[in-house]
Amino acid sequence: KKVVLAYSGGLDTSVILKWLQEEYGCEVVTFTADIGQGEELEPARAKATAAGIKEIYIDDLREEFVRDFVFPMFRANAIYEGEYLLGTSIARPLIAKRLIEIAAETGADAISHGATGKGNDQVRFELGAYALNPEIKIIAPWREWDLLSREKLMTYAEQHGIAVEMKRDGTKSPYSMDANLLHISYEGYDLEDPWVEPGQDMWRWSVSPEQAPDTPRTLELTYAQGDIVAIDGKAMSPAEVLAELNRIGGEHGIGRADIVENRYVGMKSRGCYETPGGTIMLKAHRAIESLTLDREAAHLKDELMPRYASLIYNGYWFSPEREMLQAAIDKTQTVVNGVVRLKLYKGNVMVAGRKSETNSLFDSSIATFEEDAGAYDQKDATGFIRLNALRLRVQGRMKK
Ligand code: ARG
Ligand code: SIN
Repeated sequence: KKVVLAYSGGLDTSVILKWLQEEYGCEVVTFTADIGQGEELEPARAKATAAGIKEIYIDDLREEFVRDFVFPMFRANAIYEGEYLLGTSIARPLIAKRLIEIAAETGADAISHGATGKGNDQVRFELGAYALNPEIKIIAPWREWDLLSREKLMTYAEQHGIAVEMKRDGTKSPYSMDANLLHISYEGYDLEDPWVEPGQDMWRWSVSPEQAPDTPRTLELTYAQGDIVAIDGKAMSPAEVLAELNRIGGEHGIGRADIVENRYVGMKSRGCYETPGGTIMLKAHRAIESLTLDREAAHLKDELMPRYASLIYNGYWFSPEREMLQAAIDKTQTVVNGVVRLKLYKGNVMVAGRKSETNSLFDSSIATFEEDAGAYDQKDATGFIRLNALRLRVQGRMKK
């Protein structure tokens, strides 16, 4: 019996590691991923080694995360309940995928994770895992054990010689946090009262808009088939693009959100998020699409978007319906090429220009307020309006 554990090296998953060894008496394989959470991974290796783990996986998944998950999602302009850019949601299927791959490589028959029984993450990990390996066994300690408070967890840690240390950057945070290249999230503690405004020291990635520079920052994003491939003319990989936009956006107070959202399991929960790069990407992508996408394709895409966003929020990345929508979305993106110029200023992302040498549908000779070359005959509009008005006029006559 062998289990692959998604292991961060933090307190919760360190307790889980020990608990799996004791309760299940099984061999544990640890898997720690770098998805841009900004923490060192070597401490996780040291702790796993100290716990007697022989098979330790530490993977840098940053490029795969942005290229195969974040970018495809941003082609859809996905946003959940009008506010949430799905930073945690989109990372879970990748973790699930690696857990299943590692299980196959090491001959493990089970996987385990540190998500609680009350949240979305358990659903995302497990739907992903079952889709990729229908026979896999899943151990979710939070749904089984009785260590249901911080207090009990600490006691267990002490009794089993597990180091209880603070965050690796030396600061301790009372929030439940999750970070990757797309965002950092905060839940719990004083956020559990939706009326309470979080303290300024909660936010870690961005300055407050009030404290942002008084001069705006202009930047140009180059798009190829719906994805950003260069910033200010400098070619970058997907992970580099996102890291750079996070840095610039954070400096200008971009991308903070304070939300009450509906979890898939039924409860409402309050969360705060910093998504500087993602907030910039969403605005810019819409700008380049506004120039290059056909109206009906764009509108249909917008109708499908909330469905697509819910699929990702609810954990259905590896589902036929998500793949079907993705294929449709990706098909539209072949023409989404060009450059967007933005201005970042005190928490705002403003579009200052957009162009596409190859795919612009914008025809100034048609749209002009000046005399046009004959591509559009204003007389045609008379019949267009009269025919569209026909049923309204029939209605109107009835009412009279
Ligand atoms: N509420 C957000 C979501 O469901 C964030 C979850 C954060 N997860 C965590 N383990 N702290 O996507
Ligand atoms: C958790 O419950 O593990 C985190 C929050 C969530 O998954 O929604």
